[in-house]
Amino acid sequence: MDLITLKDWTSEELQATLDEAMDVKDHPDLYRQSLVGQSLGMLFQKTSTRTRTSFEVGMTQLGGHAVYLDWRSTNFTLADIGDEAQVLSRYVDGIVARMMRHDDLLDLASGSEVPVINGCCDRYHPCQAVGDLLTIREVAGKLDGAHLVYAGIRNNVCNSLIAACIKTGVRITVVAPEVNPASDDPELMEAARESGLFAETLDLVAAAAAADFLYTDTWIDMEFFEDDSFREERERRIAAFTPYQINESLLEKSDAYVMHCLPAHKGYEVTAGVMASERSIVIDQAENRLHAQKAILMRSMGA
Ligand code: CP
Repeated sequence: MDLITLKDWTSEELQATLDEAMDVKDHPDLYRQSLVGQSLGMLFQKTSTRTRTSFEVGMTQLGGHAVYLDWRSTNFTLADIGDEAQVLSRYVDGIVARMMRHDDLLDLASGSEVPVINGCCDRYHPCQAVGDLLTIREVAGKLDGAHLVYAGIRNNVCNSLIAACIKTGVRITVVAPEVNPASDDPELMEAARESGLFAETLDLVAAAAAADFLYTDTWIDMEFFEDDSFREERERRIAAFTPYQINESLLEKSDAYVMHCLPAHKGYEVTAGVMASERSIVIDQAENRLHAQKAILMRSMGA
Protein backbone atom coordinates (compact mmCIF):
# COMPACT_ATOMS: atom_id res chain seq x y z
CA MET A 1 0.00 0.00 0.00
CA ASP A 2 1.50 3.33 -1.09
CA LEU A 3 1.55 6.47 1.03
CA ILE A 4 1.90 9.29 -1.47
CA THR A 5 -0.59 11.59 0.22
CA LEU A 6 -2.94 11.08 3.16
CA LYS A 7 -5.75 12.07 0.80
CA ASP A 8 -5.49 8.48 -0.49
CA TRP A 9 -5.94 6.89 2.93
CA THR A 10 -9.30 6.42 4.60
CA SER A 11 -9.97 7.74 8.09
CA GLU A 12 -9.98 4.14 9.31
CA GLU A 13 -6.55 3.44 7.77
CA LEU A 14 -5.11 6.56 9.34
CA GLN A 15 -6.67 5.88 12.74
CA ALA A 16 -5.45 2.25 12.66
CA THR A 17 -1.93 3.44 11.81
CA LEU A 18 -2.03 5.85 14.74
CA ASP A 19 -3.25 3.06 17.06
CA GLU A 20 -0.40 0.89 15.87
CA ALA A 21 2.14 3.71 16.26
CA MET A 22 0.99 4.17 19.86
CA ASP A 23 1.28 0.45 20.51
CA VAL A 24 4.70 0.14 18.89
CA LYS A 25 5.87 3.07 21.02
CA ASP A 26 4.54 1.44 24.20
CA HIS A 27 5.62 -2.12 23.35
CA PRO A 28 8.57 -2.00 20.92
CA ASP A 29 9.66 -5.53 21.80
CA LEU A 30 6.43 -6.98 20.40
CA TYR A 31 7.38 -5.73 16.95
CA ARG A 32 11.03 -6.77 16.71
CA GLN A 33 10.22 -9.48 14.13
CA SER A 34 7.54 -7.64 12.17
CA LEU A 35 9.60 -7.01 9.03
CA VAL A 36 12.19 -9.77 9.30
CA GLY A 37 13.77 -10.46 5.94
CA GLN A 38 12.34 -7.31 4.35
CA SER A 39 14.38 -4.49 2.84
CA LEU A 40 13.54 -0.84 2.37
CA GLY A 41 15.10 1.33 -0.33
CA MET A 42 15.52 4.91 0.85
CA LEU A 43 15.99 7.29 -2.08
CA PHE A 44 16.68 10.90 -1.09
CA GLN A 45 17.03 13.84 -3.47
CA LYS A 46 17.23 16.23 -0.51
CA THR A 47 18.88 16.37 2.88
CA SER A 48 17.17 14.89 5.94
CA THR A 49 17.84 14.17 9.59
CA ARG A 50 14.51 13.01 11.01
CA THR A 51 12.96 11.21 8.05
CA ARG A 52 16.09 9.37 7.03
CA THR A 53 17.11 8.31 10.53
CA SER A 54 13.66 7.34 11.75
CA PHE A 55 12.98 5.16 8.71
CA GLU A 56 16.40 3.53 8.84
CA VAL A 57 16.30 2.87 12.59
CA GLY A 58 12.64 1.92 12.32
CA MET A 59 13.46 -0.82 9.82
CA THR A 60 16.22 -2.14 12.10
CA GLN A 61 13.89 -2.16 15.11
CA LEU A 62 11.29 -4.08 13.10
CA GLY A 63 13.82 -6.74 12.13
CA GLY A 64 14.34 -5.54 8.56
CA HIS A 65 17.07 -3.72 6.69
CA ALA A 66 17.27 -0.32 5.00
CA VAL A 67 19.45 0.73 2.06
CA TYR A 68 20.12 4.48 1.80
CA LEU A 69 20.46 5.82 -1.74
CA ASP A 70 21.69 9.37 -2.16
CA TRP A 71 20.04 10.47 -5.40
CA ARG A 72 23.24 12.11 -6.69
CA SER A 73 25.22 8.88 -6.50
CA THR A 74 22.63 6.74 -8.30
CA ASN A 75 21.77 6.35 -11.96
CA PHE A 76 18.39 7.94 -11.27
CA THR A 77 20.30 11.07 -12.28
CA LEU A 78 20.90 9.64 -15.76
CA ALA A 79 17.89 7.50 -16.59
CA ASP A 80 14.11 7.43 -16.65
CA ILE A 81 12.77 7.61 -13.09
CA GLY A 82 10.11 4.96 -13.69
CA ASP A 83 12.61 2.51 -15.21
CA GLU A 84 15.08 2.90 -12.36
CA ALA A 85 12.27 2.60 -9.81
CA GLN A 86 11.08 -0.65 -11.39
CA VAL A 87 14.56 -2.13 -11.09
CA LEU A 88 14.99 -0.89 -7.52
CA SER A 89 11.67 -2.47 -6.64
CA ARG A 90 12.96 -5.89 -7.74
CA TYR A 91 15.56 -5.68 -4.94
CA VAL A 92 13.54 -4.25 -2.07
CA ASP A 93 10.11 -4.70 -0.47
CA GLY A 94 9.29 -1.02 -0.10
CA ILE A 95 10.67 2.37 -1.13
CA VAL A 96 10.77 5.64 0.79
CA ALA A 97 11.47 8.54 -1.55
CA ARG A 98 12.16 12.19 -0.76
CA MET A 99 11.71 13.91 -4.09
CA MET A 100 11.78 17.60 -4.89
CA ARG A 101 8.84 17.41 -7.29
CA HIS A 102 5.55 15.64 -6.65
CA ASP A 103 5.29 14.67 -10.32
CA ASP A 104 8.64 12.87 -10.13
CA LEU A 105 7.40 10.98 -7.08
CA LEU A 106 4.34 9.90 -9.08
CA ASP A 107 6.61 8.69 -11.92
CA LEU A 108 8.65 6.74 -9.40
CA ALA A 109 5.54 5.20 -7.84
CA SER A 110 4.11 4.22 -11.21
CA GLY A 111 7.34 2.38 -12.07
CA SER A 112 7.69 0.66 -8.72
CA GLU A 113 6.32 -2.84 -8.16
CA VAL A 114 6.49 -2.41 -4.37
CA PRO A 115 4.82 0.14 -2.07
CA VAL A 116 6.18 3.69 -2.20
CA ILE A 117 6.14 6.01 0.81
CA ASN A 118 6.47 9.75 0.30
CA GLY A 119 9.32 10.96 2.50
CA CYS A 120 8.41 14.58 1.63
CA CYS A 121 7.88 16.24 -1.73
CA ASP A 122 6.98 19.81 -2.63
CA ARG A 123 3.25 19.10 -2.18
CA TYR A 124 2.93 16.71 0.78
CA HIS A 125 4.74 15.42 3.85
CA PRO A 126 2.39 12.66 4.99
CA CYS A 127 4.77 10.86 7.37
CA GLN A 128 5.32 14.13 9.24
CA ALA A 129 1.58 14.53 9.71
CA VAL A 130 1.18 10.99 11.08
CA GLY A 131 3.87 11.70 13.68
CA ASP A 132 2.22 15.04 14.45
CA LEU A 133 -1.19 13.49 15.04
CA LEU A 134 0.41 10.89 17.29
CA THR A 135 1.90 13.75 19.33
CA ILE A 136 -1.40 15.64 19.53
CA ARG A 137 -3.18 12.46 20.60
CA GLU A 138 -0.62 11.80 23.33
CA VAL A 139 -0.74 15.35 24.70
CA ALA A 140 -4.48 16.00 24.35
CA GLY A 141 -5.53 12.44 25.21
CA LYS A 142 -7.60 12.24 22.03
CA LEU A 143 -7.76 13.70 18.55
CA ASP A 144 -11.46 14.37 18.22
CA GLY A 145 -12.13 18.00 19.10
CA ALA A 146 -8.50 19.07 19.46
CA HIS A 147 -7.77 22.41 17.77
CA LEU A 148 -4.56 22.91 15.78
CA VAL A 149 -3.61 26.34 14.45
CA TYR A 150 -1.03 26.40 11.68
CA ALA A 151 0.72 29.73 11.08
CA GLY A 152 3.04 30.60 8.22
CA ILE A 153 3.16 29.64 4.57
CA ARG A 154 0.67 27.08 3.28
CA ASN A 155 3.08 24.41 2.10
CA ASN A 156 3.59 20.64 1.92
CA VAL A 157 3.56 20.22 5.72
CA CYS A 158 0.41 22.32 6.03
CA ASN A 159 -1.30 20.32 3.27
CA SER A 160 -0.61 17.03 5.00
CA LEU A 161 -1.77 18.41 8.35
CA ILE A 162 -5.03 19.51 6.71
CA ALA A 163 -5.52 16.10 5.10
CA ALA A 164 -4.76 14.33 8.40
CA CYS A 165 -6.87 16.58 10.61
CA ILE A 166 -10.04 16.44 8.56
CA LYS A 167 -9.87 12.62 8.58
CA THR A 168 -9.47 12.38 12.34
CA GLY A 169 -11.80 15.01 13.83
CA VAL A 170 -9.08 17.55 14.59
CA ARG A 171 -10.14 21.15 13.97
CA ILE A 172 -7.51 22.98 11.95
CA THR A 173 -7.24 26.73 11.44
CA VAL A 174 -4.72 27.95 8.88
CA VAL A 175 -3.22 31.43 9.30
CA ALA A 176 -1.30 31.78 6.04
CA PRO A 177 -0.99 34.97 4.02
CA GLU A 178 0.40 33.00 1.07
CA VAL A 179 0.49 29.55 -0.44
CA ASN A 180 3.71 28.06 -1.76
CA PRO A 181 2.84 27.78 -5.50
CA ALA A 182 4.31 24.25 -5.77
CA SER A 183 2.12 23.10 -2.89
CA ASP A 184 -1.21 24.45 -4.06
CA ASP A 185 -3.91 21.77 -3.98
CA PRO A 186 -7.40 23.14 -4.76
CA GLU A 187 -8.95 19.66 -4.40
CA LEU A 188 -7.62 19.35 -0.85
CA MET A 189 -8.80 22.85 0.03
CA GLU A 190 -12.28 22.06 -1.25
CA ALA A 191 -12.42 18.88 0.86
CA ALA A 192 -11.17 20.85 3.85
CA ARG A 193 -13.82 23.55 3.47
CA GLU A 194 -16.55 20.91 3.17
CA SER A 195 -15.33 19.03 6.25
CA GLY A 196 -16.58 21.53 8.81
CA LEU A 197 -13.25 21.13 10.61
CA PHE A 198 -11.26 23.71 8.65
CA ALA A 199 -11.02 27.48 8.98
CA GLU A 200 -8.82 30.21 7.52
CA THR A 201 -8.01 33.58 9.04
CA LEU A 202 -5.21 36.13 9.11
CA ASP A 203 -5.94 37.04 12.75
CA LEU A 204 -3.16 35.05 14.40
CA VAL A 205 -3.79 36.41 17.90
CA ALA A 206 -7.46 35.37 17.89
CA ALA A 207 -6.63 32.00 16.36
CA ALA A 208 -3.84 31.35 18.87
CA ALA A 209 -6.13 32.24 21.78
CA ALA A 210 -8.49 29.46 20.67
CA ALA A 211 -5.77 26.90 19.88
CA ASP A 212 -4.68 23.78 21.73
CA PHE A 213 -1.65 23.45 19.47
CA LEU A 214 0.22 26.15 17.56
CA TYR A 215 2.23 24.84 14.62
CA THR A 216 4.65 26.58 12.30
CA ASP A 217 7.19 25.70 9.64
CA THR A 218 9.94 27.52 7.74
CA TRP A 219 8.79 30.24 5.35
CA ILE A 220 11.71 29.56 3.04
CA ASP A 221 13.03 26.14 2.07
CA MET A 222 16.21 25.42 4.01
CA GLU A 223 18.32 25.03 0.87
CA PHE A 224 17.34 28.50 -0.34
CA PHE A 225 17.87 30.31 2.94
CA GLU A 226 21.58 31.02 2.43
CA ASP A 227 21.36 31.04 -1.38
CA ASP A 228 22.22 34.52 -2.67
CA SER A 229 20.18 34.08 -5.85
CA PHE A 230 17.14 33.78 -3.57
CA ARG A 231 17.99 36.92 -1.54
CA GLU A 232 15.27 39.19 -2.92
CA GLU A 233 12.54 36.61 -2.41
CA ARG A 234 13.96 35.78 1.03
CA GLU A 235 13.74 39.43 2.08
CA ARG A 236 10.22 39.71 0.68
CA ARG A 237 9.06 36.63 2.57
CA ILE A 238 10.66 37.71 5.83
CA ALA A 239 8.73 41.00 5.61
CA ALA A 240 5.48 39.26 4.66
CA PHE A 241 5.63 36.49 7.25
CA THR A 242 7.24 38.10 10.30
CA PRO A 243 3.80 39.24 11.57
CA TYR A 244 2.94 35.51 11.79
CA GLN A 245 5.91 34.55 13.96
CA ILE A 246 5.28 32.33 17.00
CA ASN A 247 6.90 34.39 19.75
CA GLU A 248 6.71 35.09 23.48
CA SER A 249 4.21 37.90 23.04
CA LEU A 250 1.82 35.59 21.17
CA LEU A 251 2.19 32.84 23.77
CA GLU A 252 1.11 35.29 26.49
CA LYS A 253 -2.29 35.33 24.75
CA SER A 254 -2.54 31.58 24.24
CA ASP A 255 -2.37 28.39 26.29
CA ALA A 256 -1.38 26.32 23.26
CA TYR A 257 1.51 23.92 22.96
CA VAL A 258 4.01 24.79 20.23
CA MET A 259 4.85 22.40 17.42
CA HIS A 260 7.33 22.57 14.53
CA CYS A 261 8.30 19.85 12.07
CA LEU A 262 11.98 20.95 12.26
CA PRO A 263 14.51 22.01 11.27
CA ALA A 264 13.59 25.56 12.34
CA HIS A 265 14.90 28.96 11.40
CA LYS A 266 15.00 30.35 14.94
CA GLY A 267 14.27 34.05 15.00
CA TYR A 268 12.10 33.85 11.91
CA GLU A 269 8.97 31.65 12.08
CA VAL A 270 9.58 30.93 15.78
CA THR A 271 11.80 32.49 18.42
CA ALA A 272 14.58 30.59 20.17
CA GLY A 273 12.91 31.35 23.49
CA VAL A 274 9.63 29.74 22.45
CA MET A 275 11.46 26.72 21.05
CA ALA A 276 13.18 26.23 24.41
CA SER A 277 10.11 26.98 26.53
CA GLU A 278 7.99 24.50 28.46
CA ARG A 279 5.22 25.05 25.94
CA SER A 280 7.34 23.59 23.15
CA ILE A 281 6.78 19.92 22.36
CA VAL A 282 8.95 19.87 19.26
CA ILE A 283 11.44 17.28 20.49
CA ASP A 284 8.73 14.82 21.54
CA GLN A 285 7.11 15.52 18.18
CA ALA A 286 10.38 14.67 16.41
CA GLU A 287 10.77 11.48 18.44
CA ASN A 288 7.31 10.41 17.38
CA ARG A 289 8.47 10.34 13.78
CA LEU A 290 10.20 7.04 14.67
CA HIS A 291 7.11 5.39 16.13
CA ALA A 292 4.90 6.70 13.33
CA GLN A 293 7.37 5.53 10.69
CA LYS A 294 7.32 2.01 12.10
CA ALA A 295 3.54 1.88 11.90
CA ILE A 296 3.60 3.28 8.35
CA LEU A 297 6.19 0.70 7.30
CA MET A 298 4.17 -2.18 8.73
CA ARG A 299 0.98 -0.96 7.06
CA SER A 300 2.64 -0.28 3.72
CA MET A 301 4.75 -3.42 3.62
CA GLY A 302 1.98 -5.69 4.80
CA ALA A 303 3.31 -6.80 8.18
N1 CP B 1 10.72 17.24 9.48
C1 CP B 1 11.53 16.57 8.63
O1 CP B 1 11.10 15.95 7.66
O2 CP B 1 12.84 16.60 8.99
P1 CP B 1 14.04 16.13 8.04
O3 CP B 1 14.05 17.05 6.84
O4 CP B 1 15.27 16.25 8.88
O5 CP B 1 13.77 14.71 7.60
